[in-house]
Amino acid sequence: MSVGLDDVVAAETALSHVDGEAGRLIIRGFDLEELAGHQSFEAVASLLWRDLAAAGDAMAVRRALGAARVAAFPIAERLLPMSAGLSPVEALRLMLSGLSDASPVPGHVLVTAAMPVFVAAITRHRDGLAPVAPDATLAQAADFLRMLRGQAASPAEIHALDTYLVTVIDHGLNASTFTARVVASTRAGMVSSVIAGLCALKGPLHGGAPGPVLDMLDEIGTPERIRPWLEQALDNGERLMGFGHRVYRVRDPRADVLKHVAATLRAGANRIQFADEVERAALAILAERKRSRPLQTNVEFYTALVLEALALPRETFTPVFAVGRVAGWAAHVLEQEAANRLIRPQSRYVGPLPKRAA
Ligand code: ACO
Repeated sequence: MSVGLDDVVAAETALSHVDGEAGRLIIRGFDLEELAGHQSFEAVASLLWRDLAAAGDAMAVRRALGAARVAAFPIAERLLPMSAGLSPVEALRLMLSGLSDASPVPGHVLVTAAMPVFVAAITRHRDGLAPVAPDATLAQAADFLRMLRGQAASPAEIHALDTYLVTVIDHGLNASTFTARVVASTRAGMVSSVIAGLCALKGPLHGGAPGPVLDMLDEIGTPERIRPWLEQALDNGERLMGFGHRVYRVRDPRADVLKHVAATLRAGANRIQFADEVERAALAILAERKRSRPLQTNVEFYTALVLEALALPRETFTPVFAVGRVAGWAAHVLEQEAANRLIRPQSRYVGPLPKRAA
């Protein structure tokens, strides 16, 4: 038995492949580096979904998402008052529950379009601001930033966010994607599967790490405190957020893509230099202390820097991750549904036996 299912192959997929030894992420036949920064979120979503745009027509996907964002907006307006007291990711969970599998909009389009509408509305609501209605003519990244801020973002910021959304769009059978596929295998439908995926993403061992990465940088504060702070954290048995991965034994390729993106945003210049120093020290200390297990930088470390430079509050980082990853979850749900068999593994019973049978 493999605790944590490390070596278990639980699905066949044509969507993405994580090569943990080579530090390579392949998305439908393309290396991540060929897509991120070069193809739009819509283009890569159409690559994953195929059914909607047989010819890889990103414009068809863009139009469909734009119209579906407009359709999702009233749900955000209706449910916002009920989100009082919830964290942003909990509020997002609530709003997704307002979507229906009976909607005339195809499920994968509906959930992918709704995500930025809901996250923008939730982010503004926590600052006491009214939600901004979507603009169906814009691409997801541009409209998401506009709905967040109430005004258009710069081309550099839009490009940075678009690159981020593509970078996190899909990643093999990670915990949230597996969860979404399990729920899809019961024929529960797209919306329920995606909500389940979000619930798995919420945890700090998965998509909840980038906020704590910034907390760590803040707590360290100055270059001379880097090494003592990291040593102390490990002495206390803590994990360094943004490091380590279940599959990668070398550097997560997404970390380099996002480090480059962060460097294009002037707002992050000093922070990136400091983060770079923290990263180098952390890798050195982890290599000294965890000799049996190569621990490298993962996607969340530079995710934190990119999203901070885009002026997003750290409590919203996990929901923003979902704005990108939802297209991958949806693609996996479609793939699961197309060749479905209920996912139902066995467990080994280690509890007491009834007296009669013992
Ligand atoms: N800091 C310190 N030690 C670590 C870290 C870390 N970030 N990650 C793993 N280790 C250590 C463990 O303590 C353990 O050491 P031990 O053998 O001395 O007890 C050893 O490495 C193996 O740990 P496992 O828990 O078996 O590794 P696993 O494959 O389950 O962990 C995980 C993967 C959860 C990502 C882990 O590396 C971690 O907790 N990282 C920090 C949180 C984080 O950055 N999450 C984002 C991941 S990316 C994503 O999901 C989008």
